[in-house]
Amino acid sequence: MTTPQKTALITGANKGIGKETARRLAALGITVLIGSRNTERGEAAAEELRADGADVRFVPLDVTDEVSVRAAAEHIDAAFGRLDILVNNAAIAAGPQKPSETLAATVRQVYETNVFGVVAVTHAMLPLLRRSAAARIVNMSSELGSLAHQADPGSPWSAYYSILLPYCTSKSALNAVTVLYANELRPEGILVNAVSPGYCATDLNRHSGTRTPEEGAAVVVDLATAGEDGPTGAFFAEDGPIPW
Ligand SMILES: NC(=O)c1ccc[n+]([C@@H]2O[C@H](COP(=O)([O-])OP(=O)(O)OC[C@H]3O[C@@H](n4cnc5c(N)ncnc54)[C@H](OP(=O)(O)O)[C@@H]3O)[C@@H](O)[C@H]2O)c1
Repeated sequence: MTTPQKTALITGANKGIGKETARRLAALGITVLIGSRNTERGEAAAEELRADGADVRFVPLDVTDEVSVRAAAEHIDAAFGRLDILVNNAAIAAGPQKPSETLAATVRQVYETNVFGVVAVTHAMLPLLRRSAAARIVNMSSELGSLAHQADPGSPWSAYYSILLPYCTSKSALNAVTVLYANELRPEGILVNAVSPGYCATDLNRHSGTRTPEEGAAVVVDLATAGEDGPTGAFFAEDGPIPW
């Protein structure tokens, strides 16, 4: 079964920037699937966003669990027959800890969500995205993942580079993953981009961010709804491209 209505899946959308992205995409008339690893939190977010008449639904999804990822893809296939927008938003951080004191196990744990989770979800959803007339994939990266910034001793983010190796390098890897998907999928008209929402106050940074999650969602929505002449294989903040 396929429906004319556009459908978007956002991973880790039960709170933070993912939830605000869901709110904004739903306000555009898109059916939004809130991917959440926790049923109660996922249902609560979907219910909150449905309050203003939007079509928002909860889909159980733990991006580190292949069975959960496969089940989500099967559910979306049965309910909609395709997927138009995938926002790989779910992420975790670890630390603070100096790079020299960071264990491989800690890095592995962060990569399971921030890198391997993105690959698992993208791989599972691609058959559905390929059935869309204009599929878009947006990967939630961070300026902390920019190698150009990491290599710049004067970077405003250097304090973070010295204590957040797992998170920062996971976003660098995610940027590379983004480019390689974009290269392959360009001829099919599937646009794949990485975005940085800016420093937003969420649970991820114990609400120390200076922007709101609503503000952070703006660039995600822009790329998720880009026209066919939109960018692909790019890395964007709200005010323009970020150096890799
Ligand atoms: N906040 C910032 O300043 C900032 C800056 C740059 C980039 N970002 C990026 O923006 C994205 C959203 O972050 P946020 O700040 O909104 O953080 P957040 O409020 O902590 O939200 C993270 C979301 O990811 C979910 N999640 C974590 N592990 C998961 C898993 N295995 N499966 C499914 N969902 C999982 C969390 O679910 P639970 O509720 O179950 O934990 C939560 O819904 C992340 O990719 C982050 O790296 C944020």
